Amino acid sequence: MTTVIKNGTIVTADLTYKADVLIDQGKITQIGIGLKGDRTVDATGCFVMPGGIDPHTHLEMPFMGTYSADDFESGTRAALAGGTTMVVDFVLPGQGQGLMDAAQMWHNKSGRANCDYSYHMAITWWGQKVWEDMELSVKAGMTSFKHFMAYKGALMVNDDELYQSFKRVGDLGGLAMVHAENGDVVAELTAKLLAEGNTGPEAHAYSRPPQVEGEATNRAIMIADMAGVPLYVVHTSCEDAHEAIRRARMQGKRVWGEPLIQHLTLDDSEYQNPDWDHAARRVMSPPFRNKLHQDSLWAGLQSGSLSVVATDHCAFTTEQKRYGVGNFAKIPNGTGGLEDRMPMLWTHGVGMGRLTMNEFVAVTSTNIAKILNCYPQKGAVLVGADADLVVWDPEKSKTIGAASQQSAIDYNVFEGKVVKGLPRYTLSRGVVSVDDGEIKTREGHGKFIARDPRPAVNRALSAWKDLTAPRPVARSGIPATGV
Ligand code: URP
Ligand code: ZN
Ligand code: ZN
Ligand code: ZN
Repeated sequence: MTTVIKNGTIVTADLTYKADVLIDQGKITQIGIGLKGDRTVDATGCFVMPGGIDPHTHLEMPFMGTYSADDFESGTRAALAGGTTMVVDFVLPGQGQGLMDAAQMWHNKSGRANCDYSYHMAITWWGQKVWEDMELSVKAGMTSFKHFMAYKGALMVNDDELYQSFKRVGDLGGLAMVHAENGDVVAELTAKLLAEGNTGPEAHAYSRPPQVEGEATNRAIMIADMAGVPLYVVHTSCEDAHEAIRRARMQGKRVWGEPLIQHLTLDDSEYQNPDWDHAARRVMSPPFRNKLHQDSLWAGLQSGSLSVVATDHCAFTTEQKRYGVGNFAKIPNGTGGLEDRMPMLWTHGVGMGRLTMNEFVAVTSTNIAKILNCYPQKGAVLVGADADLVVWDPEKSKTIGAASQQSAIDYNVFEGKVVKGLPRYTLSRGVVSVDDGEIKTREGHGKFIARDPRPAVNRALSAWKDLTAPRPVARSGIPATGV
């Protein structure tokens, strides 16, 4: 059975034009005027865009003594409800656990996904086994590797490990990723605040000032350059980190920054709310920042120095957040946002004149598809691409609230915010998952998207002196595709 999306305006990262889209067996097979199909999806008055890709989620993840509350079913249902058609989740090996063993655990959970997904691999400890498994990870399509520079005593890796791992990622043609906060300084500030009796959620923000993020971002960029590996900085929240990324890009380094929709639209005054639950629900790392940092992130999206808007969806219920009553350091870190990323960014970006529609598509979908090397299978409206599409109604509005959300948690950090611009239809490989506003997801429909490595293109700038020297070759033997 074929489906045709009719009478809409196609919006991609670089073009806006009127055309219908024909879908057969999950792929886009034709784009043109006056197309016919077995089923018609009416896009009158709407924009037809690549479905969103959220490259930063933590679904059913063991963390800080509990599990994040949204699993692959509720998480991907929330994603589709908000126009996102692919998520990239982090496989988090335990201390001493092999990478492929951890990937199998993730695979067991992800069978329930309603939309397509891929994985980043986290490097949470270092040793021969990890070094060996990294090649297997790349061969299995998990080509991006995240490193935590924070969470001392748990997930944090030190500079020696970071350098060893970055070199290995570079050799394999992979992408290095960092959670950039100076974990040593955070640990000391946390201990000091607690000793002084600052135990409430507002102290979480005091324990992680912008400087700890700026320092770690600079350090990661320098180490990545020396290791000759491209670097993706997750949840860039402040000017201090943005400045480092901006400068690196101007120097010709292949570095990307990822602001979150939460940091773009919510600020640190949330932590001053006298309601403990209100503030604790917003505890995440890095914490929300002041308006000046927010302006910096918006400017980065506008100028292109920041490339991707994600959520870091890592949702905990109020009950879980209360593990940290009397000690902010025990509040599980993380917030939700999967369902709200696209409508919030459209409202505050396109609606307020900060972003063009094409820039919106770039930062919610196309840029990350290119960075993660799954373009144009994902992130494109092109013949041959997967029919992961959103029919976006710019006139449709709602007030965000926990009562009507798909996420399993009992609150929403955007509660009460009005958004204008919502999906009328969301299609996951051609399957209509939001149908004229109604949620009709199919559990288990989602497929794992394996990604090929890239050629090792980010040779250290210092190595440019001799461009005739042989280039590092990806060891996996899998040819790189895409941009
Ligand atoms: O607070 C956060 N961000 N929780 C999720 C884990 C991480 O650091 O990305
Ligand atoms: Zn499976
Ligand atoms: Zn992180
Ligand atoms: Zn995260």
